[in-house]
Amino acid sequence: MLRFLLKWKTKILMTENHHASEQRHYQLWNETGLKNIKPDSVRYGEYPEGWDVIKDINRIINPFIQSRILEIGCGYGRICRAFSPKQYLGMDINAQAITRAKTLFPQYKFQHAQYVDKYPNADVVFAYTVFLHMPEHTVHDVIKNLGNGVEHVFIAEIMEKKTWDQNTQSNYDDAERFHAVYQRTPEEYVKLMEQHRYYLSEEIIKPYHYYAGAKIHFLHFRKMPAPPKILCHQAEWLKDPHLQFTGLYEDGWVHPHFSITLSNTVDDAHLVIEGLYPANPDLRSNITLEIRNETKQLLYASLNPGHFNFKSNEHMKAGIYHLDVSINPGVDLPPPDARHVGFFLKKIGFESNSSGSGNVVKKIYTKFRLKTVRK
Ligand SMILES: C[S@@+](CC[C@H](N)C(=O)[O-])C[C@H]1O[C@@H](n2cnc3c(N)ncnc32)[C@H](O)[C@@H]1O
Repeated sequence: MLRFLLKWKTKILMTENHHASEQRHYQLWNETGLKNIKPDSVRYGEYPEGWDVIKDINRIINPFIQSRILEIGCGYGRICRAFSPKQYLGMDINAQAITRAKTLFPQYKFQHAQYVDKYPNADVVFAYTVFLHMPEHTVHDVIKNLGNGVEHVFIAEIMEKKTWDQNTQSNYDDAERFHAVYQRTPEEYVKLMEQHRYYLSEEIIKPYHYYAGAKIHFLHFRKMPAPPKILCHQAEWLKDPHLQFTGLYEDGWVHPHFSITLSNTVDDAHLVIEGLYPANPDLRSNITLEIRNETKQLLYASLNPGHFNFKSNEHMKAGIYHLDVSINPGVDLPPPDARHVGFFLKKIGFESNSSGSGNVVKKIYTKFRLKTVRK
């Protein structure tokens, strides 16, 4: 009971802190007005990026817009001309910037936003040098609040492993009034977005000339198709109460990252996995497979397209194992299927070589095989 109350109290305190931090961010952007939307650059003028921002962003994003693009953190509309006025909606918390955008680009739509808003539906969402000014919990809340129809999310900003200033309160109190920066790497965004069922589809890197040596990463995320709940109707062991999984399709394909909880009934077993990596014409890097049990890496292997079969070196005790399986890179199945998958899973489970009366008997525990379902 006491633990429950403590947990509850911690949650309330955290929510209060989050709320206070969001208030500060909101006030700071509104009080600084147009001052910090982009760096002032005598050399580069309106586009300190140093390249044709409108043309290149149009080229990167436009092919994915079917009906509407929502730009979150549009500032005073600096980028809106990359898109058609009929398809575009820009939102920003900064009231002065929104007023300015409406004056500069009267043919485009702009809307003043709450710090975390209930965003109108769109098929593409774009945030350009915005999320790096938000603490992680806000980025989660923003993504959570996107409309159901959002198939593509483009996050573009400088992404590198660097600890920048994250102290919102002291920045708020500072006479210079500057904005906190929560720098994240592309890998951190991939993890964050996967929690909301978006996978990284492509990454484009452009220079940011104003900041010597800096680069803007465009991360293009796509919505994962929802995996069906049922894996295989026939298998008895599916009734095992310990078995839980995410990211497995009924027909045997798995997401590039999937998880499964299996019970191993014997001591001294090895983890086994068998599958098929399909032909991938876009393959530009090594294929790697990793299996982790919480923080521990159980298996890491490189493989080639085609059939694979691995066994971990680790001697596993009996128990319940929550396995996270990742394969990199994922593959797009040919249309009309077009699912983004990791590989075709044939078997995963625990195997043990236990000796009985002098003979080595191979026993397989909690293993499953998937049948190909052809329609
Ligand atoms: C560095 S500026 C970039 C503006 C614009 N994307 C551009 O490149 O010109 C960041 C913008 O994000 C906006 N912003 C910050 N937090 C926001 C939030 N939670 N929701 C919407 N906009 C936000 C700020 O008001 C500011 O206009």
